[in-house]
Amino acid sequence: MLQRIMKPVLLVVLLLVLARHTYATEGMWLPQLLSGLNEKEMKGMGMKIAAADIYSINKGSLKDAIVSFGGFCTAEVISEQGLLLTNHHCGYDAIQKHSSLQNNFLENGFWAKSAVEELPNPGLFATFIVRIDDVTKAALQDVKPGMSERERQSAIDRRLNEIRQQARHESWQETMIKPFYEGNQYFLFVTETYRDVRLVGAPPSSIGKFGSDTDNWVWPRHTGDFSMFRIYAGKDGRPAPYSKDNVPLKPRYALTISLKGVKQNDFTMVMGFPGRTSEYLPSEGVKQTVDVLDAAKVEMRDAALKIMDGYMRKDPQIKIQYAAKFAGTANYWKKWMGEMQGVKQTNGVGKKLQYEDTYRQQLETNPVWKQQYGGVLDSLNGYYQQIQPYAQARDYYSELVRNVELFTVGDRLISFLNDVHERGEAQYETMRQQFLVSMQGFYQNYNAGVDHDVAVSLIALYAKGVPAQLAGAEFAQIWQENNKNSRALSDKLYAASGLTSMDKLTAFVQQPYNTVVAQMWKDPATRLVMAMRKGYVDNISRPLADLQSNINNLQRIYMQAQMDVMGSKKVFYPDANSTLRVTYGKVDGYNPRDAIHYDFYTYLDGVMEKYIPGDYEFDVPARLIELYKKKDYGRYGVNGRMPVCFIASNHTTGGNSGSPALDAYGRLIGLNFDRTWEGTMSDINFDPAICRNIMVDIRYVLFIVDKYAGCTRLIDEMKLL
Ligand code: ARG
Ligand code: ASP
Repeated sequence: MLQRIMKPVLLVVLLLVLARHTYATEGMWLPQLLSGLNEKEMKGMGMKIAAADIYSINKGSLKDAIVSFGGFCTAEVISEQGLLLTNHHCGYDAIQKHSSLQNNFLENGFWAKSAVEELPNPGLFATFIVRIDDVTKAALQDVKPGMSERERQSAIDRRLNEIRQQARHESWQETMIKPFYEGNQYFLFVTETYRDVRLVGAPPSSIGKFGSDTDNWVWPRHTGDFSMFRIYAGKDGRPAPYSKDNVPLKPRYALTISLKGVKQNDFTMVMGFPGRTSEYLPSEGVKQTVDVLDAAKVEMRDAALKIMDGYMRKDPQIKIQYAAKFAGTANYWKKWMGEMQGVKQTNGVGKKLQYEDTYRQQLETNPVWKQQYGGVLDSLNGYYQQIQPYAQARDYYSELVRNVELFTVGDRLISFLNDVHERGEAQYETMRQQFLVSMQGFYQNYNAGVDHDVAVSLIALYAKGVPAQLAGAEFAQIWQENNKNSRALSDKLYAASGLTSMDKLTAFVQQPYNTVVAQMWKDPATRLVMAMRKGYVDNISRPLADLQSNINNLQRIYMQAQMDVMGSKKVFYPDANSTLRVTYGKVDGYNPRDAIHYDFYTYLDGVMEKYIPGDYEFDVPARLIELYKKKDYGRYGVNGRMPVCFIASNHTTGGNSGSPALDAYGRLIGLNFDRTWEGTMSDINFDPAICRNIMVDIRYVLFIVDKYAGCTRLIDEMKLL
């Protein structure tokens, strides 16, 4: 008897032990599929709610509290009056636009004392997901075997239009269909978009952006990366354009906030709108991404950043002009370096090769698979080899044009003249005024000396990195004229071009249209831009598009093949595509290198350790120091300490910034804003051992709102547990 009971018990224990070590924190799952695919595992990891509490179309559920914030970040509703929480870096543009030298909200923070002080932000929106339907069958019904890629796509597109129009939705809602699993499945989204979203509060950058670029993508982290907004609706509660008569939104669901914090191994869940991942690349694709493409982009940005940094350190004016540009360029520069290193350290390519071996062996076991999918993986890897020189040239080209600002202006001038050509010369006068106005902001933050030096470095790297036959004959000629010396070329460019200042540009386009067009061929900057562009279009982008279309086709078939062939070994989630996803994991530290272990929590003590008075990255506001000294943490501290950030193994990416971190009960415990440097490779190679997302603890957010800013009216409208 005992024996017979013992055995199953042992088995259960064994399974539990196994389950502990094999839980899959990898994956960005579709909320409406959780009940079928993930609920059991989530519960096994500690989740205490049901999948229907996360996504339901019959009652308010967690998904009704999550919005796409402006299409580039995530935010969540945290009160019955439409209060939204997102990151400081997501609200940054809005905060900056309301800032002036007198009222510098970026520097000093901003807190609306009452509803009338909440500030509208034209162009900003918040989109809710009302419903998600699988429309794959209807979308693919006209697809026939043997169709070319183009025929297939137009057969699908025709159906998508029809499905969208026929989809059940209210007049104030929108519908959208997106491909998933590389185009093997299609889902319809019914959405509600609110366009009156007002700024409510933001901490000073010395809290919201504490650590800035030095700490970006890095753990341990001490950033209070949050800001608050509010959704306003028409009196009927529906989306309405901005009006002072609009009222705070009564949401279908608002998150409850937990002040309990988290412990090691606690279940966590992040919901949001991840932008893009490439988890199903073949080995050649992974190798190419890190060895070739990341490397090229890092090389270019490395050079540009060094030059900007040199000038910014010497000249305070340049420091202001280039701060935002520097941060924008540095963000992905750093991310790609982390990605290169992470893939190498975890043998990401080797693991893909191993996976491909298993896949091939498995494929051999089934004649139907063999017939359907035989050779697909090899062709796909082959196409990746073929596309490599073009993809690399594309990245050199786009980094060159992006980082040498003179080329950006050249590009804009050429587009402007093309527009005039299309709309008719009669429009020239008015269009010229608009063009000049649009360029003013650019020149405000432009320094030709910095740009000249960037050009010297980057043109040389471009000429070295892009084979002559791809750069094209026109570029080759200019390069030759200057004896292949990028300093000589740049000296001439910046001495003679009419685009290096607002005054010169104004004078340049003050001339009659035909004169400007004629001059354009002579101006050394536009001449070079046009030469490079011609080379790019003729020799790079065309072959690239053809090869890419073949890759997309094979990538789709390979995706389906993996799902069929490897389906018994793992559950597949679709790559991120800016749609609502759920990811779950556990609170945990990690070991980035031999003998180094990172804990999962940081505290205000760490902010003080990093404090450098007057520094633009590590200064700390006096009021915060005062609260720290008095340990005046209110109900938000624990054992005399103030928690700041924590990490967990949730699988996130760009776009997940501002996403809520939820506990086992679906309560808000933090705000996602970044990943650890060793784990930035998670976009192509998620490794649960070292991939971690970084969240600011909700108690730190509330402490700043309540104790630091004294904005208690906001605390009062939240549900705190
Ligand atoms: N790395 C984070 C993300 O990709 C945060 C970026 C904002 N912070 C910064 N210092 N640039 O968006
Ligand atoms: N910082 C990113 C964002 O802004 C999040 C990430 O890449 O982990 O979306």
